[in-house]
Formats: sequence, C-alpha cells, structure tokens
Amino acid sequence: MTKTIMVSNQKGGVGKTTTTLELGAIYARKGKRVLIIDLDGQVNISMYVNAKYDDKNIPTIRDVLLEIKEIMNHLEAEAEKEDDMQDDIITRSIQTTGEGFDIIAGHRNLSNALAEFSDTTDVFLLKELISCMEDYDYILIDSAPARSPLLNMGYVAADYCLILTEADKASQDGVKQVVTDIKLLKKNKMSDISILGIVLNKNEDLKNQEEAYKDLCAFGKTNHCMPFTTIISKAAGATTAKNMYKSIHAYRDTKGVDKRSIQGILNDFENLADEIEQRILKIER
Ligand SMILES: Nc1ncnc2c1ncn2[C@@H]1O[C@H](COP(=O)(O)OP(=O)(O)O)[C@@H](O)[C@H]1O
Ligand SMILES: [Mg+2]
Repeated sequence: MTKTIMVSNQKGGVGKTTTTLELGAIYARKGKRVLIIDLDGQVNISMYVNAKYDDKNIPTIRDVLLEIKEIMNHLEAEAEKEDDMQDDIITRSIQTTGEGFDIIAGHRNLSNALAEFSDTTDVFLLKELISCMEDYDYILIDSAPARSPLLNMGYVAADYCLILTEADKASQDGVKQVVTDIKLLKKNKMSDISILGIVLNKNEDLKNQEEAYKDLCAFGKTNHCMPFTTIISKAAGATTAKNMYKSIHAYRDTKGVDKRSIQGILNDFENLADEIEQRILKIER
C-alpha cells in the first residue's frame, strides 16, 4: 500500500525540501516507486529536479487541485465523464525526473492558496488526489514555510508526518505548531496522520544543538513524536548539489566531486531513510 509522508515545519530554511529530495532519491535508488508532490509556491524542489512548473501543457499540483475542486462541485449525473477528466489531468501532471522518482510540480500561485482553496471542503482535495494514486510505494509531500490551507490539506491527505527542525528556538517553536495543528485536525476527525518523528538538521556537534536534542526528546516524550536517532550533519555539499540541480546522491556520482566531504551527510540521510521505514513498520504492525 502507498505510504504518504508530509514533510513539515512552517519555519523556512530548516531542510524540508532537502530532506524530501534526498529521501526521494534514496527510496527510488532502492527500487521503490516514489512520487514527490511540490506543495510550495516557491517551487524549489520542482526547480532542483528540472521539472516544468510554468508550461501551459503540463498541469501543476495547483491545476490538478483546482480541477478536482471543480469536479467535486459538479452534479453526480456527470460523474463518469468527470472521473475520466480527473484521471487525464492527473496522468498529464506526472513528470519523470533524473533522480528516479516522479513529481507533480508546484506553482507560483500556490502562495495564493488562501484565496483559491478557502472553502471548507477544499481541505480534502489532496486526499482525493492521493486516493487515485495506486502505483507508488511512497508519496512525499514537500510543504511551504507558511500556515496556509495547503498545510492542512497535507495533514488530511498524508498517513505520516516528518517534522524537520534546526536547533534554534524559532524552528523548535515551528515543531510545536505542527503538533498543535495536527492534534486539532485529529480531534475534529479530519486527519488520521501519525507523526513519525522529528529530524534535527544541520548539526555541527555544538553544545546548543545537544541541548536542543534533549529538549526535543522531552517534548517528543509527552507528545508521541520522538526525534529520530539519526541527526543530519551540516555539510556545504547540500547546497552545492542543489545549485547543480541534483540531490546529494546524484551529485556524488558527478565527475570531480570530493566524495569524502559529503559522505557524512549521505550516510545520515540513508540512516534516516532506514529509521523511517522501521518506524512505519512498527506503527503498521
Ligand atoms: N544538512 C544541511 N547542511 C547544509 N546545508 C543545508 C542542510 N540542509 C539544508 N541545507 C541548506 O539550507 C537551505 C534551506 O534548506 P531547505 O531544504 O530549502 O529548507 P526548507 O525547505 O525547510 O525551506 C538550503 O540552502 C539548503 O541547501
Ligand atoms: Mg522548501
């Protein structure tokens, strides 16, 4: 069965996009069928994998969600024809990438989500889309650094949530906000999402980071969202790779790259990918 994972924290710059990209690349390399959905108006992940996000002929996630909204608002008599239309736009929106996973690209206007997706039923649009996707082992959702209707759409649609953070207070505050938002949706029976855990990113073995990890453990214990044992190291290669439109894994395989400087962060992401699978197994057992 498809497992859908939302990568979240409304604080920007904590590593959501980087982690989504690396996990996608790792699972795809392991032979899993992976789809990434870019739910961010900054379209960063779409850019990094050279997906088209401004080509009129290729629907973005915004086009797909608007189409599903249109269809859901129509009369049931038209249902069959409209199912075909929905399947067609979904098929056309899926782009293959050099990383081995597929992507539905983001769109700049997603930043306008408050205006476009403000009806109460819109929160179910992404869930409806994902219910049509049977061919994937993993669907990873990269989310925007903002509290918008898109975030709730993600929490309603996904089976699991991965919360990214850095050691600073503002990022940790973002972690707490994610947990609060999810708790409210669950209380209102709108979401079945399980929080897989918290990922501490950009580690440099500093004292404040050790303390941050302890704080996250204490928070995780009372809120059922323990940090992962794997902590992701800070490595300049994370940014260099993206400047070359590659995951760190694809960057490693590029000629002339100093592999030693990125081996640590590659191992970290691989360990994280394993830990995620173990936690999912434990939850589903
Ligand atoms: N582990 C890391 N080490 C070094 N730089 C990182 C690491 N993770 C992310 N970055 C860099 O930090 C910036 C923000 O990361 P990004 O993944 O775009 O965050 P978000 O999606 O949460 O806004 C990017 O320039 C990215 O390359
Ligand atoms: Mg991002």
